[in-house]
Amino acid sequence: MAACTALAAALALASCSVTTGTQSDFSSPYVPTPDSTVERMLALGGVTPGDTVMDLGSGDGRIVIAAAKRYGARAIGVEYDPKLVEVSRLNAREAGVADRVRFIEGDLFKVDLSPASVVTVYLLPDVNLKLRDKLLAELRPGTRVVAHDFDLESWRPDRVETFYAPEKNRGGGGTSRVMLWIVPAEARGTWALRSPALPAPGEADLRISQNFQAIEGQATLGRRPVALATPTLRGPEIRFTLDAGDGPLAFDGEVREGEMVGTVRGKAGTWPWRATHER
Ligand SMILES: C[S@@+](CC[C@H](N)C(=O)[O-])C[C@H]1O[C@@H](n2cnc3c(N)ncnc32)[C@H](O)[C@@H]1O
Repeated sequence: MAACTALAAALALASCSVTTGTQSDFSSPYVPTPDSTVERMLALGGVTPGDTVMDLGSGDGRIVIAAAKRYGARAIGVEYDPKLVEVSRLNAREAGVADRVRFIEGDLFKVDLSPASVVTVYLLPDVNLKLRDKLLAELRPGTRVVAHDFDLESWRPDRVETFYAPEKNRGGGGTSRVMLWIVPAEARGTWALRSPALPAPGEADLRISQNFQAIEGQATLGRRPVALATPTLRGPEIRFTLDAGDGPLAFDGEVREGEMVGTVRGKAGTWPWRATHER
């Protein structure tokens, strides 16, 4: 009961209601997200009918069902408590969305995340932290991750909303925090950049360092190092400005497998650019 109380306290609960799943060393107790917070999570994730939402540790299925019913998305719940999976399937049938949702009974750490375009979590901090590498390894760049209350530590969220949820703490009310992360592409490394926008011969070496979605770097034009100004990475979309000696050049592009491609705008026009990954 001591562990139960500690977990409940971590989730800011008035009392403890914990299911008995033991399939993983890392577990979170069953505490439902209030409906008003579910709404804010799905809105923050920008869920559309084209999305596949995965709720990892899906409890009674409320996030999955809301994604299908209110946003027209396909949705998958992963939950290791068989009783909760059964309740979720019943709830989905009752809500008329059984054909758009699926519940997997199993350990969220063992499930393939690649179908997801949006992932939602309401899990304890140590579970989130253990999950972080899996999210970054398996989700496509641009996938949105939305968490309730507990963050992903040093991977800073792209957006945070904090608000009052009247249903929280068994109707006593409380604060909900919802956070959004956009899975970044892998942009780090050395790249050979080519564009007619660059001074002859139209080439530069580009070195990019990356900490999750935060990037910085420099280009070497001839022998002249130039820092990338205002570099940003949002999913696969990369932007930076480079002063190549004749005014700023604004690069806008997409990171793909082993290459980046896009357009660059300068005072004299717009040109294509391409960079190939060297190491
Ligand atoms: C705090 S509840 C959140 C439920 C639901 N996502 C919501 O927001 O209403 C966490 C859920 O994750 C489940 N869970 C915890 N660890 C899990 C694991 N490793 N695999 C699958 N389910 C897990 C628990 O059984 C519990 O139902």
